[in-house]
Amino acid sequence: MHPNLSVWLVIFLLQYSSITFASDPDPIQDFCIPNPKFGSIKTIHLTILPCKNSSEATTDDFIFSGMKIPGNFSDTGLATISVNPVLFPGINTLGMSFVRADLKVGGINPPHFHPRATEIAYVVQGSVYSGFVDSTNRVFARILEQGEAMVYPRGLMHFQMNVGKKPATVFGSFNSQNPGLQRIPAAIFGSGINDELLEKAFGLSPKQIDSMRRRFEPKKSRGRE
Ligand SMILES: *[C@@H]1O[C@H](CO)[C@@H](O)[C@H](O)[C@H]1NC(C)=O
Ligand SMILES: *[C@@H]1O[C@H](CO)[C@@H](O)[C@H](O)[C@H]1NC(C)=O
Repeated sequence: MHPNLSVWLVIFLLQYSSITFASDPDPIQDFCIPNPKFGSIKTIHLTILPCKNSSEATTDDFIFSGMKIPGNFSDTGLATISVNPVLFPGINTLGMSFVRADLKVGGINPPHFHPRATEIAYVVQGSVYSGFVDSTNRVFARILEQGEAMVYPRGLMHFQMNVGKKPATVFGSFNSQNPGLQRIPAAIFGSGINDELLEKAFGLSPKQIDSMRRRFEPKKSRGRE
C-alpha cells in the first residue's frame, strides 16, 4: 500500500471509531457552571455559554435539591423530572444527566428512546415491568423489584409499567447532558406525518388515524414534559 494511503486509512479509522463510540465531548476543565451574566439558562445548549470564574463556584452549585418529590403526573400515570443543565447547571459539560420518574399503580412510561444516551434505570421503590427492544425487534424485558437496575442501550426503544400495588419510583442516569427524548406514539401520530402514509403503514382506517392523532398530538395547554 502507498504510505500516504495507509496514513489516510488510519486517520479515517480513527475518525470513524471516534464517531462510533463518541459520547459528549470530554471536558477541558474541572467544571463549567454557566455564567448567568452571559445569557439566561433557558436552553440546553449550554456548552456555548461562558463558564463562571471557578473561584466563584460554591458547594451549592454542585447540589440538586429539586427532585425530593414526584413531578406532575401525565395521563399515563407518569411523572418525570428531567435533570439537565437547565435545571442543574453544575452538570454542564460533564457528559451526564438524570431523571426521576414516578409511576402510579398501573402507570406506564410509553415506548420511547434517547438518541444520544445509554440509560441506567434503578428502581428506588416498587415493582416495574421494564424492557427494551433491539434492532432485530427482540424484546428484553422483565419485572424489576426495588434495588434492581436495568440498562437501556443508546438509541433503543424502551418502556416501563408499574405492576406493583403501590407507587413506583425509578432513577434514570444518562451518559449525555442532553440525551434527547422521542416518544414513539407521539412521534408517529402526533407529529403531522401524512395520513395516507400512516394508514398504509399501520393498516388503519382514516377514522382510526384521526382518533390516534387526537390522542397524541401535542396539547397546547401543556408545556414540555
Ligand atoms: C478569576 O478569579 C480570580 C480570583 O478572584 C482572579 O484572580 C482571576 O483573574 C479571575 N479570572 C478571570 C478570567 O476573570
Ligand atoms: C408542575 O406543574 C407546576 C404548575 O404548572 C409547575 O410550576 C411545575 O414546574 C411543574 N413541575 C415539574 C417538575 O415540571
